[in-house]
Amino acid sequence: MNIKTLAKRRDNMQWMKLPPKIYFEKNAVRYLEKMEGLNRVFIVGDRGMEKLGYIKVVEDVLGQRVDPIQMQTFVDVEPDPSTDTVYKGAEMMKDFKPDTIIAIGGGSVMDAAKGMWLFYEAEDADFFGAKQKFLDIRKRTYKFPKLRKTQLVCIPTTSGTGSEVTPFAVITDSKTHIKYPLADYALTPNVALVDSQFIESVPPVVVADTGLDVLCHATESFVSTMATDYTRGLSLQAIKSVFDNLEDSYKGDLVAKAKMHDASTIAGMAFANALLGINHSIAHKLGQEFHLPHGRCIAITMPHVIRFNASQPKKRAIWSKYNYFRADEDYAEIARYLGLKGNTTAELVEAYVQAIIDLADRVGIKMSLKDQGISKQAVDAAVDNLAELAYTDNCTVTNPQEPLISDLKQIILDEYNGPQKQH
Ligand SMILES: NC(=O)c1ccc[n+]([C@@H]2O[C@H](COP(=O)([O-])OP(=O)(O)OC[C@H]3O[C@@H](n4cnc5c(N)ncnc54)[C@H](O)[C@@H]3O)[C@@H](O)[C@H]2O)c1
Ligand SMILES: [Fe+2]
Repeated sequence: MNIKTLAKRRDNMQWMKLPPKIYFEKNAVRYLEKMEGLNRVFIVGDRGMEKLGYIKVVEDVLGQRVDPIQMQTFVDVEPDPSTDTVYKGAEMMKDFKPDTIIAIGGGSVMDAAKGMWLFYEAEDADFFGAKQKFLDIRKRTYKFPKLRKTQLVCIPTTSGTGSEVTPFAVITDSKTHIKYPLADYALTPNVALVDSQFIESVPPVVVADTGLDVLCHATESFVSTMATDYTRGLSLQAIKSVFDNLEDSYKGDLVAKAKMHDASTIAGMAFANALLGINHSIAHKLGQEFHLPHGRCIAITMPHVIRFNASQPKKRAIWSKYNYFRADEDYAEIARYLGLKGNTTAELVEAYVQAIIDLADRVGIKMSLKDQGISKQAVDAAVDNLAELAYTDNCTVTNPQEPLISDLKQIILDEYNGPQKQH
């Protein structure tokens, strides 16, 4: 077989990439007592993690090892971490020369640690190249260096982003203040410790926002043009778990919180491989413009995007594996899996939309931009730019139907009043 044929065959192969080790019981952090290859450990966290005593928990576990460990701690990660923070951490790493990085925190901390990992290991890595947009993460022109000197351990303390298992790091350019998702399987952590002891302190409003984000990761990955049977099983399990546990988790039930923590990672495993869609494209831009939490923007956008995606497409998505339009059937399958009622595909899709609106209501999320305190004038003034930016977002590429900019604009305008009842 000649090289060209082999390359073509490789292009058409489907594959999954996940961290080699995922531990998911309470006290999973104790894996650090016996993990191999740890001599010099760089711990990344934020001030919140320090105050809650979670950094100390990690230090104490490392202190239990028979072999002595050298440790250095960096707790200056801010929410939505910047390139300045990433470069600062990477410089400290260059002096300290860790063999292991342990990130403990929410998505911000884990993403910052991934960025530091990249710039510590690869002297010639550059943010400009790494942030470039791509049609397919698996065939991009900027080649990420392989990160092999150091291992990255991620310990999530929110149940939302899935960053502990994903190849993404969302970093804000300190010069332009624009958020960029760096995406490459080289950024997949080596170990994820999904330990529910660290999420007991998450306040209800954050539980609600991040929980709806988990639901969206699972739903978008299920209908994505990159979904496979391998990822769909993970997506469905996460969706069911959110419906079974989010409300109790919001009320403070610790068993439900632990289940949501697992659901977040399971959804992360799905979207790490099947990617997302326009729900995220729109929410990224709304969050940036109106300073609303990511999960809130996601929740408000979800009913509108599902209705849009389930309608017959004007323009088919171009992904080569997506042979026929099936998003409407996919949403109906989710509804059936949840035991929702409906005689037709359209009725089942709408039943799923209603189930999401009801769940959001039970966890206190107001489902319109108006109820989030955003004025009609502000939406009207920003909508053209937001729709254009959402169109160019990387998540748009794997949406099951390719939207026109005018479709995205209409969705954002509809979000002002929130979802209306469909007849
Ligand atoms: N890498 C990915 O795959 C991915 C996916 C989605 C979003 N993101 C990014 O992740 C970031 C958001 O992450 P997030 O939602 O986890 O929030 P976050 O990491 O920004 O944390 C928000 C706040 O919650 C606090 N906090 C964290 N854990 C806590 C706990 N257990 N108890 C009490 N307080 C706690 C933090 O100290 C911080 O002040 C954004 O930058 C977003 O763009 C990344
Ligand atoms: Fe998200």
